Amino acid sequence: MKVPFLDLKAQYVSIREEIASGLQQVLDNTAFAGGPFVTRFEKEFASFCQTDFAIGLGSGTDALWAAILGLGIGQGDEVITTPNTFIATAEAISFSGAQPVFVGIDEKTYNMNPELLEDAITPRTKAIMPVHLYGQTADMDPILKIAKKHDLFVIEDACQAHGAEYKSRPAGSIGDAGCFSFYPGKNLGAYGEAGVVVTNNAQLNEKIQMFRDHGQAKKYYHSMIGWNARMDGFQGAVLSVKLKYLNQWNESRRKNARLYNELLANIDGVILPTEADYAKHIYHLYVIRTQNRDAFMAALAENKVFCGIHYPVPLHLQEAYSSLGYKKGDFPVAEKCCEQLVSLPMFPELTPEQIGYVVEKVKSIVNS
Ligand SMILES: Cc1ncc(COP(=O)(O)O)c(C=O)c1O
Repeated sequence: MKVPFLDLKAQYVSIREEIASGLQQVLDNTAFAGGPFVTRFEKEFASFCQTDFAIGLGSGTDALWAAILGLGIGQGDEVITTPNTFIATAEAISFSGAQPVFVGIDEKTYNMNPELLEDAITPRTKAIMPVHLYGQTADMDPILKIAKKHDLFVIEDACQAHGAEYKSRPAGSIGDAGCFSFYPGKNLGAYGEAGVVVTNNAQLNEKIQMFRDHGQAKKYYHSMIGWNARMDGFQGAVLSVKLKYLNQWNESRRKNARLYNELLANIDGVILPTEADYAKHIYHLYVIRTQNRDAFMAALAENKVFCGIHYPVPLHLQEAYSSLGYKKGDFPVAEKCCEQLVSLPMFPELTPEQIGYVVEKVKSIVNS
């Protein structure tokens, strides 16, 4: 048996006709850049997230960047985030002109540890950007409380958390803005690049609408300097089809995670994911921890089980961020986890037989 890390084709074949029809409509209407199919998806996704507004953008990175700029954050400001995330989180802060400041993570959820947050706040801090990593929200109540006390914005990086919940509230709807990526491998993935910002803030909505379209509300009348960060029509059409299935697909992921948890329970040397009592985890990734991670993954690959690492190097130790002056030992929990994390195969169409095979191989490798 061969178990891929992710199988986009298995999902595509189940919705092939609907996708073809959606794409044909975009062609028939020549609605390629922005346009009615993007507007329709924006309405649907705002409703899914229970927010007033959703603004379709070119990628999750664009979404984070637009939210930061739209809240007036830039040169001389600081934004606090976590070192255990994809680099786009910090890049968006840097590209606004602000500086990312990292705080340590919680060893159980791998998300920002709110207990460490206040020490990172300075007079230059303008926002906190928690990342809902692997499909589980950060612990938002203490984060919101600290943000309120220090008058800071909260921007949720929900790029891995489509349909996740915090105390029954949808990820992305909790802070001032929520940013999602629709990169093809995400729980809600486009067939190209796309992203979105959701918010209840009418002024922010207006600013991001302008920003993504060269600062214009009326064609060729530019009231601010913006950018081209529009979502394309094909992605809007694909996402409208796929959004209808998102809850069902997330439930399948949760079921797969339960089966992994059951079959992998009590194996010495393997730490399983923790679902916090405040969270509905939607398992964008099913991440375990093990010693000798690289040898473990190589042995799995020899048995045709393919895994990922999210992420091998925490951001404070990435070469790109060497100018920030962090050093090894600054975030010991994140550093330790980055050496041990392994993302096992996870997607809605994964079968119980495939999961059984992965577990059998994990057990034999750990025991040998
Ligand atoms: C946590 C996180 N933030 C931001 C992004 C950036 O999204 P995109 O690839 O759509 O630009 C990603 C996507 O991988 C992500 O996982």
